[in-house]
Amino acid sequence: MLIRRIKQLKCLGARYSSSHYVTTPIFYVNAAPHIGHLYSAVIADAHCRYQKLRHPATVVRLCTGTDEHGTKIQQAAASHNVPVDQYCQEISFRYREVFQAAHIQNDDFIRTTEERHKQAVAQFWRTLQGRGHIYSAAYSGWYCVSDEVFLTDSQLRLDEASGTRYSLESGHPVEWTEETNYMFRLSQFQDDVRHWVKQEARIRPAKFEKILLDTLSEPLPDVSVSRPSNRVHWAIPVPGDETQTVYVWLDALVNYLSSLGYPNEKFLEHWPPAQQVIGKDILKFHGIYWPAFLLAAGLQPPQQLYVHSHWTVDGQKMSKSKHNVVDPVQAAQQYTMEGLRYFLLREGVAHSDGNYSQVKAQRILNSELADTLGNLLSRACAKSLNPCQVYPQPHAEHLADLLQSVDAAKRLRDSLLQLSERCEAHYECNHFHLVADTTMAALHAANNFFESAKPWELKGGKEGANEPRLATIIAMTMDALRLCGIVLQPIIPQLATRLLDKLSVPSSQRGWDCLNENFARRDSSSNSRSHQLDGQSSAMLFQRIMDEKDKTVEQKPQPQQAKRSKSKKERLKTATNATTATTTTS
Ligand code: MSP
Repeated sequence: MLIRRIKQLKCLGARYSSSHYVTTPIFYVNAAPHIGHLYSAVIADAHCRYQKLRHPATVVRLCTGTDEHGTKIQQAAASHNVPVDQYCQEISFRYREVFQAAHIQNDDFIRTTEERHKQAVAQFWRTLQGRGHIYSAAYSGWYCVSDEVFLTDSQLRLDEASGTRYSLESGHPVEWTEETNYMFRLSQFQDDVRHWVKQEARIRPAKFEKILLDTLSEPLPDVSVSRPSNRVHWAIPVPGDETQTVYVWLDALVNYLSSLGYPNEKFLEHWPPAQQVIGKDILKFHGIYWPAFLLAAGLQPPQQLYVHSHWTVDGQKMSKSKHNVVDPVQAAQQYTMEGLRYFLLREGVAHSDGNYSQVKAQRILNSELADTLGNLLSRACAKSLNPCQVYPQPHAEHLADLLQSVDAAKRLRDSLLQLSERCEAHYECNHFHLVADTTMAALHAANNFFESAKPWELKGGKEGANEPRLATIIAMTMDALRLCGIVLQPIIPQLATRLLDKLSVPSSQRGWDCLNENFARRDSSSNSRSHQLDGQSSAMLFQRIMDEKDKTVEQKPQPQQAKRSKSKKERLKTATNATTATTTTS
């Protein structure tokens, strides 16, 4: 009866739903967050922010949280001599804090130790059992505590010297375990899962679809979904059998349902998830177990799994157990949280691992956020060029003449004409690095135009003052900045907001549709009016990051250096690199 009702609601949901439900994995609380974890969250957040920007009528919902059960959490708490519930609370809080600092706009933060989640897991278990997909069996095998998974011989490596076996995939040690467990009939869902995986754009990037299909080409064994309570007691009890606790991966996966209020039918308003962001290490759980569990429970599996690769440090996977983690809070002290967000999304690509290096982060942020974006804003807002502090209106005849006679103006126009369509295509695929590339190309074109048009010569130099032409150049430059600010909102929300605030762009005009209003599309530019810049906001967007040694030099100038007058070439270089560029524009 309930199932029939669910099916009816599901059909209705599919037809009328304007919901876009997105999830991150829930994070283990056995240690503090690192930038790899933040990466999963930042991808999901940028994806959701884009959806809201592009499809304002859609209800976008983002859920994240912490995964708090299992032996490894128990062990971590014990090693810190802290009661396990207190330990979970503390680490969970740190995730929450980091995500807040990174402006992750999650609608829910779920903890698997919450009552609402325990109820959902119990109901999900009863549904699987009621539908005949769970049975009891004696089970023995090699168990990996770190990965919370049983492994077959072919998935192990034997260290001859110590006699210890290790997981080939994760490198973690395993131990022989014999116990009575509840088993889930995974083998019966092989064809259904394969069919689901093969649907268009189900698994992205496509290389991960291939990995799943390879796994699915071998017969799937049934999977153990409980553990004896005396071995794993920090877990959710199996309904009706106190001697067993629910397997942590089944427990964890159900979080995506409990966040929506499952088993209350209202959860169907958002089900199934439009996109679930995961790291490649948890592909099997989300790409095989999860759809099988859902199909067994009579629910639709997610519409898309978006799988990202890992951040490495010196070529090694960053992980708590390898002690080579990069702490996002520390990194943000150096680059700001917006800088860190930009770096992760600019440099990370989903299909292959990215190597984290401070030198690279500093180089990219200085050249793109400080020199290319920040510097242009400072120049366009400099009092020397723009004494009335306005976002001017272009003058039709000067606009036509600039587009006719200055090549850099034509290139800027072409770049802006393509910006919206190109970035939309990149955002639709979560190709944030290409959005950044395209936006930076437009900003380079704008910088180039500004240099070529020489607005500072129009203030009354040799050629005499030409206020309308000067205003037109500033208007075109500000249009480029405004458009790039709108496009960059999902990636660097705070910086983009500050940029748009400075330009006094009303919040109603920061949507994707407003990308069409600019000088490059003449009809609309004729409607625009000159308006005042926001005097309260700074035109200094992103401060260059300095090396420690440069900071020391800056704090204590050497007498000879301070006295030595700079050459013209040096002065020019400093001015171009500074975030406030009044010198070049005056
Ligand atoms: N608790 C499970 C997920 C359960 S979801 C139902 C888990 N937690 S985790 O804390 O180990 O990892 C959470 C996410 O962080 C995963 O997507 C994982 O891929 C990601 N990262 C962990 N280390 C990473 C890197 N070094 N680089 C990028 N992301 C990686 O797995």
